[in-house]
Amino acid sequence: MSEGADRARLAVFVSGFGSTLENLIACARTGTLDARVSLVVASRPCRGVAIAREHGVPFHVHTGTLGEAELLGLVDEHRLDWIALAGYLKLLPIPARLEGRVVNIHPSLLPAFGGPGMHGGRVHEAVAAAAERGEITETGCTVHLCDATYDTGPIVLQARCPVAPGDAPDEIAARVGELERRAYPEALNRLIAGETAG
Ligand code: GRF
Repeated sequence: MSEGADRARLAVFVSGFGSTLENLIACARTGTLDARVSLVVASRPCRGVAIAREHGVPFHVHTGTLGEAELLGLVDEHRLDWIALAGYLKLLPIPARLEGRVVNIHPSLLPAFGGPGMHGGRVHEAVAAAAERGEITETGCTVHLCDATYDTGPIVLQARCPVAPGDAPDEIAARVGELERRAYPEALNRLIAGETAG
């Protein structure tokens, strides 16, 4: 783990409850994540902002579409190395300079159960329905680099868990949430260490 000024600087983008942000801040503090959370960007006032405030992390609430120039302005101002989307519900236009530097976590095994409108509880409801029909026996989470569309881009890491007919969406969400807490810091560490996705 590198210390202080040498650590990679990470911005976390949120729109909602912020459990992913909370985990990344905790992992950065303990060293499980080899980065510091240097900025939180929220697409609306949400619990994620309260978490940033509570932990003394600078935050920026931007309710409109964040344009490339504004995004690059934040990157320069806060000397960001990486951007981690954590339940950020807007499509982020990625300037050429940031290609390969914007990462997302999705609560399914992409490409399954991804794309526009597939977020939060909707993913786990669709997974539960597919398990009920006998179409799938596992689900999980995916960490991937972002490109110009929702939930696509080179995969960094997938973590898997079983799913069975009768599993409730809430149970599946809890199981996948547990995977996410380990998978996101691990995937970010791999990228920070210079591993390539694909
Ligand atoms: C997580 O399930 C993550 O996979 C997805 O959005 C959810 C974020 O929830 N991208 P939270 O706002 O971090 O609690």
